[in-house]
Amino acid sequence: MQISILSFTVAAIFYLAFFVFAYGLISKILQYKNTPAPLKIPTMPAPTTQAGVVFRMSKEVVFFESLFKSSKVTWLFGWLFHFGLFLDMLRHLRYFIDPIWFWVLIIQPFGKYGSILMFIGLAGLLTRRIIVDRVRYISSPSDHLMLVLLLSITTTGMAMSFYLGADVISVKSFFIGLMTFNIQNIPSDPVLVSHLLMVASLMIIFPYSKLLHAPGLFFSPSRNQVDNAREKRHVAKWAEDLEKN
Ligand code: HEM
Repeated sequence: MQISILSFTVAAIFYLAFFVFAYGLISKILQYKNTPAPLKIPTMPAPTTQAGVVFRMSKEVVFFESLFKSSKVTWLFGWLFHFGLFLDMLRHLRYFIDPIWFWVLIIQPFGKYGSILMFIGLAGLLTRRIIVDRVRYISSPSDHLMLVLLLSITTTGMAMSFYLGADVISVKSFFIGLMTFNIQNIPSDPVLVSHLLMVASLMIIFPYSKLLHAPGLFFSPSRNQVDNAREKRHVAKWAEDLEKN
């Protein structure tokens, strides 16, 4: 089978994007892990046990609890986007696994309509950055560009899903081919190719932008510390060695 120049190019871009994403993410996570937290600073009222911290973090991850407390409108749009994204990423698993697990089959329609939640959420977050004065004042071009990138990925995806259709069989063999180092042809569909190239850009930007808040949340001392300062003296990792000497 003759492999087109387009397919080689998209394949090369995805290998590069995957490498940058994986390397960047791992090195940033190690950097977060090794950054000392010298002070005991959980936001009060804070849990007094480790199990309590797990419960607090779960509420943060699933419901965005602290955002809910600070701004209901931002919470609504932010949560809608992330929940829709979660459903749709589970739907996307079908391009990478064969045979498709049965729960991934069940989730398909939920993922597809999750894209509407993504669109509403992103449109709301972008509008907020433009019309709320105090938010516009602190917004940098990258804040806008990331929302525009996510919105463009969402709209090209929805265009394929709801109107234009896409050769999903070929998309799947292309990605399974990438994972098994056996490059296959990608359909020369401009909407599909732009969807994919924007996804590759997102993967490259992810570890070096505020999108890193996803893993970063777990390393936030104000959320992940136990309120036990009266029972146990808090010593940062790097200070432990100094104490021993
Ligand atoms: C390599 C990864 C990806 C591949 C291969 C891919 C491929 C596709 C394809 C082929 C469609 C059309 C589905 C259809 O016609 O039924 C689609 C739809 C969509 N994609 Fe992606 N996509 C990828 C990553 C992403 C990412 C990271 C996002 C979000 C940030 C995203 C958001 C969407 C949305 C919102 C839709 C419309 C709803 C749906 O059918 O799932 N995609 N994608």
